[in-house]
Amino acid sequence: MTATQTALRSQPASAFAVERIRTDFPILKLKVGGKPLVYLDNAASSQMPQPVIDRLVRYQTTQHANVNRGVHYLSETATFEYEEARRKLQRFINAPEDREVIFTSGTTDAINLVMHGYGRRFIGAGDEIILTTLEHHSNIVPWQMLAEEKGAKIRVVPINDAGELLIDEYEKLFNARTRFVGVTHVSNALGTINPVKRMIAFAHARDVPVLVDGAQAAPHMKVDVEDLDCDFYAFSGHKLCGPTGIGILYGKAAMLERMQPFKGGGDMILSVTFEKTTYNMIPHKFEAGTPPIAAAIGLGAAVDYLSAIGMDAIASHELNLLDYATGQMNRMRGVRIIGTAVNKAPVLSFEVDGVHPHDIGTLLNQEGVAVRTGHHCAQPVMQRFRVPATSRASFAFYNSMAEIDALIAGIRTVQKVFA
Ligand SMILES: Cc1ncc(COP(=O)(O)O)c(C=O)c1O
Repeated sequence: MTATQTALRSQPASAFAVERIRTDFPILKLKVGGKPLVYLDNAASSQMPQPVIDRLVRYQTTQHANVNRGVHYLSETATFEYEEARRKLQRFINAPEDREVIFTSGTTDAINLVMHGYGRRFIGAGDEIILTTLEHHSNIVPWQMLAEEKGAKIRVVPINDAGELLIDEYEKLFNARTRFVGVTHVSNALGTINPVKRMIAFAHARDVPVLVDGAQAAPHMKVDVEDLDCDFYAFSGHKLCGPTGIGILYGKAAMLERMQPFKGGGDMILSVTFEKTTYNMIPHKFEAGTPPIAAAIGLGAAVDYLSAIGMDAIASHELNLLDYATGQMNRMRGVRIIGTAVNKAPVLSFEVDGVHPHDIGTLLNQEGVAVRTGHHCAQPVMQRFRVPATSRASFAFYNSMAEIDALIAGIRTVQKVFA
């Protein structure tokens, strides 16, 4: 366990006002099939609190126009609020400069941007890209597409039976042809928190840039890109209480400057003739066309909301939930947790003897409990554990201990049905 996790665990559970926080989330009042909703599918998408919903309404009702080109009141207001959202995101991840934050449609889009903008320019035949077994498909497939196009090779860091990366093996993968590392900060399938800072330092000592997929980390812990020293960091708004269709790519200014644009169109140019186009400065070079203005502003409100609660307080409460749920599940006969890393985010993948995950999900739904079942877009992880799928409960700071009890009671019901 890291010193940070020990410190987070030592915070008193009673200090976290979860019942008050829950009142901010209208959707949590829902009943599903007559039972109170127990929403434990937060790794797929989290829910939106009223202040973020209100911010979207305020934008649409009093501030909306297209950004950048207008001189009228609404266009100037929308442009200011959009750029203000960028600054909020900059502060949220401690990026040195706001121009290092590019709005994308999400993590997938951000990784594709790096693949096209950096990969296609700087990775060639015979070069090697290091990925890990824990990657989500969105940090595998773009690199495979690049490898196929360029004749590059993908090397994969293996994991142990707990679902932790074998760091010795990672270090052994480096050679003179290594050009890029892509690693997830937190595994969406298992919850493993990877030692990305150490991995980045090792790669940088060999002049290899690193992209961190932060989709499952940014909602659960303080992210400091300056401290990590990553070259790129990507995450999605809808997993941290913001809207869908928005996310960010953080990139070091020097890297972004060297990259080619991914999409061409309006706003990403300084001048266009049929002979030649001059590209705009960063971040605009990577934001072609009308951006998702409302969604970006909503995401700004979401990080304000999370920051007001405090990422450490969030992480501490979520660790309490994870520890409690893990303890409960470990005591159940016929239930096996997949992913037992020492450092984990609040994700519990599990199997129930003799029951297909799909049936688990369906029966839990009848109890009002929402979990995800399937391969979680991480098929290499499933292959490593020789399972076609798992059931996954993933927690957020607005979940309560009573909801963990509902999950455990639901699994008991599943076992009775299949007894
Ligand atoms: C680790 C990880 N990376 C990338 C993604 C893709 O995110 P999005 O679908 O928002 O682009 C996810 C989504 O589940 C994820 O968990």
